[in-house]
Amino acid sequence: MRKITIAIDGFSSCGKSTMAKDLAREIGYIYIDSGAMYRAVTLYCIENGLLHNGQIDVEKLRNEIDNLHITFRPNAETNRPDTYLNGMNVESKIRTMEVSSHVSPVAALDFVREAMVKQQQEMGRKKGIVMDGRDIGTTVFPDAELKIFVTASPEIRAQRRYDELKAKGQAVDFDEILENVKQRDYIDQHREVSPLRKADDALLLDNSHLTIEQQKEWLAEQFARVA
Ligand code: C5P
Repeated sequence: MRKITIAIDGFSSCGKSTMAKDLAREIGYIYIDSGAMYRAVTLYCIENGLLHNGQIDVEKLRNEIDNLHITFRPNAETNRPDTYLNGMNVESKIRTMEVSSHVSPVAALDFVREAMVKQQQEMGRKKGIVMDGRDIGTTVFPDAELKIFVTASPEIRAQRRYDELKAKGQAVDFDEILENVKQRDYIDQHREVSPLRKADDALLLDNSHLTIEQQKEWLAEQFARVA
């Protein structure tokens, strides 16, 4: 069977990673969470003094961005890939609220996007890949054979994120998460470089009222139609 490229874009915390990961595992494709790459750059900024009171040291980051290498390796325990920054496993460190609250301005920087898109395109050179993010169908893989744009209401997305973080034992506040979801939506949609938008040829999926099972079924049908 021919291998294709699958681009899954959408708003934050809309469940796109879950559906992308599950599909990739079922069809034997590579799965790449492009948001994890922007989160890893943000973590680097936090840990190396490039972020002070919400201000990014843009010039310093510009000089250092080519030295940030982000890779993914399978984790046998979770059955999902972990994110590595320059060889260090940063999977849990990139999922905190601190990283979530700084990631969108970092991801809006043109040179950060350029560096990440280059690494993402290299990962997908041989096809057989499912990548999720904000600009995969529009910028990273404009020729992807299957493009999906996922959305759900901000309240539903915030609730899902709240449940997820709480299950991991993190102290979380629903209103803070809802505010973060709305803020990231705004920055992601209004930035100059590759703003979040549905590609013209992407299929729209509003999963506000779908169970994970129903969503998986829908995605499997779309894959079967194209592959
Ligand atoms: O997908 P996730 O919510 O983990 O992504 C974190 C942030 O990274 C998003 O809020 C967005 O600002 C940025 N991002 C992006 N382009 C992508 C993926 C994520 O700008 N392709």
